[in-house]
Amino acid sequence: SSAKSSDPLGDLNTMLKGDMDATNALIIDRLQSSIEVIPKIAGHLIEAGGKRIRPLLTLACTKVFDGDMTKAHMLATTVEYIHSATLLHDDVVDESLERRGKASANQMFGNKPSILVGDFLFARGFELMVETGNMRVLDILSKTSRFITEGEIRQIDIERNLKTTEDDYFAVIESKTAALFAAACEVGPVIAGVEDDIVNNMREYGHNIGMAFQIVDDILDYTAQEDRLGKKVGDDFREGKFTLPIIYALEQADEKELLFWQTTMIEQDVADGDLTTAQMLIEKTGAVGRCVELANKYVEKAKLCLIDLPPSIIRQKLSDVADYIVVRAN
Ligand code: IPE
Ligand code: IPE
Ligand code: MG
Ligand code: MG
Ligand code: MG
Repeated sequence: SSAKSSDPLGDLNTMLKGDMDATNALIIDRLQSSIEVIPKIAGHLIEAGGKRIRPLLTLACTKVFDGDMTKAHMLATTVEYIHSATLLHDDVVDESLERRGKASANQMFGNKPSILVGDFLFARGFELMVETGNMRVLDILSKTSRFITEGEIRQIDIERNLKTTEDDYFAVIESKTAALFAAACEVGPVIAGVEDDIVNNMREYGHNIGMAFQIVDDILDYTAQEDRLGKKVGDDFREGKFTLPIIYALEQADEKELLFWQTTMIEQDVADGDLTTAQMLIEKTGAVGRCVELANKYVEKAKLCLIDLPPSIIRQKLSDVADYIVVRAN
């Protein structure tokens, strides 16, 4: 049927259950190390779940081209390990206290082991991708890991800077987030050996949903209910992150509002109730609406990337996943 599902991730999880189970088993299995603290910290994060959206995309984007699913399990695991490594590092950088509804690893075990276990996960992911023996896939995933790091460092550069532009922001999110979505969707088609045009379309599909995904994450940092988010609301505000909602709110700010952003985001003079004011301002100035609109543009671009694929249920679900990315914002 062509009826749009309200839970495309759930549907894909059901359709790819055997492959997702195999991937989850590999994800748990390869955490092992004779150094006990490694599976303890990595397990703390990984067993807390998460949406597993990136490995699911890798599996779906392999299956849709009838690629080798054993290799897909390895690559999906690598992708989730790269993601997990960046989360461990990101929570140290952002001084975040919660992740996936639990105390973050840095909060629970400290910064030093969190960073090193992040490195372990990067390295383990690399071991797994090497097992596929596909040089092009190694190229994609190693470059992606570099991009993510570059994005996270670029973001430190634009912290607490009122002059941050939309383009600065796009460069950050393309690198820190969209690159991994792009790679997650590209590696399957590569191992399936499909023609370059199609590989590029799948990569673009991933890039576009990744851009939308981070814009929505940045909205949710202000608008979400904490228990549903599994992370603290207002982290970006406290850390002086110039995300898109703030960039748009600043464009519309009057003098009094400018002073508010200056005091809180630049001078770090944050009082009780300031987060509520920030939340009110990004709504009132239409910043949230503009962010949703832009995220929707990326979603539409993502769906266009799929039109050359032969019609199939998985293709439909990938299209529905694109829509779901923005539905999360509501
Ligand atoms: C969090 O990603 C990091 C961002 C790129 C915003 P997810 O929202 O996919 O995190 P989990 O894996 O579901 O916890
Ligand atoms: C995404 O940015 C981080 C990475 C891609 C590593 P955020 O810092 O907004 O992610 P969350 O909100 O902590 O998950
Ligand atoms: Mg963070
Ligand atoms: Mg961050
Ligand atoms: Mg965030």
